[in-house]
Amino acid sequence: MRRRLCAVVVAAVLAAAAPAAVIIGGGGQPAEASSTPGANDGRGQGVVTPGGSGNTTNDPADEAASGDPMNGAAGGRRTASPARAGTSAAAATQPSGGGSGRGPALTGPLRALAARRGVSVGATVLTSSSLTDAQYAAVLGGEYSMLTPENDMKWSAVHPQPGVYGFVAPDLDVAFAQSHGMAVRGHNLAWWADNPTWLTTIPYTRDQLIGILHDHIQTVVGHFRGKVAQWDVVNEGLSGGFWWDRIGPEYIDMAFRWAHEADPAAKLFYNDAGDEGLGGHSDAVYNLVRGLKQRGVPIHGVGLESHFDLNPPPLHDIAANMARLNALGLESAITEVDVRVRVPPSAFDLERQRVIYNGLLATCLAAANCKTFASWGFTDKTSWVPSAYPGYGAALPFDAQYAAKPAYYGMRAALGG
Ligand code: XIL
Repeated sequence: MRRRLCAVVVAAVLAAAAPAAVIIGGGGQPAEASSTPGANDGRGQGVVTPGGSGNTTNDPADEAASGDPMNGAAGGRRTASPARAGTSAAAATQPSGGGSGRGPALTGPLRALAARRGVSVGATVLTSSSLTDAQYAAVLGGEYSMLTPENDMKWSAVHPQPGVYGFVAPDLDVAFAQSHGMAVRGHNLAWWADNPTWLTTIPYTRDQLIGILHDHIQTVVGHFRGKVAQWDVVNEGLSGGFWWDRIGPEYIDMAFRWAHEADPAAKLFYNDAGDEGLGGHSDAVYNLVRGLKQRGVPIHGVGLESHFDLNPPPLHDIAANMARLNALGLESAITEVDVRVRVPPSAFDLERQRVIYNGLLATCLAAANCKTFASWGFTDKTSWVPSAYPGYGAALPFDAQYAAKPAYYGMRAALGG
């Protein structure tokens, strides 16, 4: 797995449990309360976005064209839309699908359509240096209302040596989000993967590791206090691994409590893969978070990663899972969706992919507790899929040249556009 150590490490402070921290990167001040998630519709940022049906008079409350969560697609309605976001409006005609056929399609970027439906539509930034690509930045900042640093907030990036924290790269991500009116999802505070070598090789005692985790969470969440709307506090915790093995499952309770202390306003999520529908792993996650709630641990939601192939869990199972989490008083967020296909993809595979994006977003919209729909990346140019799943790729709504794919139009259709 790649390690992106974007900060310059000034010194390795070889201390034990709770060393004095060296903080690299400015900021640390709470953000102005100016970036309301989803409030900025993305216009006026020099981005030509798909839409362009010429109709700008739709009633924002009109949900007539939202997709059916149980069948994912319908219609065959065609929407005249530019194929390229971030460049110029090409007069391509794309099948939209997912609409009921009632009412004209809404215009504007995804984020404007999503705001009308009360959801944030998110994507990851691979790392802050990706933002120097003007086209990448234009599509990300123009189409999406939420940003997740894909790697820049992980342990090896922000805490590369004992007691040394580097915030240069994630600070740039957060600044980009703020300047584009995007909310930020922080990812993540404790995971079995991406732990730096110093952490896993120095023979710390259990008590020392508790101290190190405490310091990490307080420092990182504290640094971004007021700037990160949601944290994935524990990522894939039920897979076991480092924290589970070295502290025990009780690290999960600790992590949530410490994150809440560091930023009481942030929404805290347990994030996992394979917990989207119903089944053994989903039940295990449900039981875990029910226990957290029963113990009064501050948790606000469950992340459903949704790294799918063309055979995802049935939408009615995902809807049922969201409903049982809602009954616990928890949000259910789609946090990392991508839908991988064999490369090069056939037109039929891209159509199946469109149906899956459409149906998943429609399922989220139909759920009382799903307010976040985020993909893992947005362009096939920088997706993790080809390296994680050899032979697969083309998993995201925009292709490697930033052209909107059928999946993008599937999302628009679910949102009524
Ligand atoms: C992945 C990133 O996409 C890659 O760039 C990196 O090399 C490894 O991690 N589940 C998660 C994410 O929660 O953090 C992972 O991200 C993908 C799977």
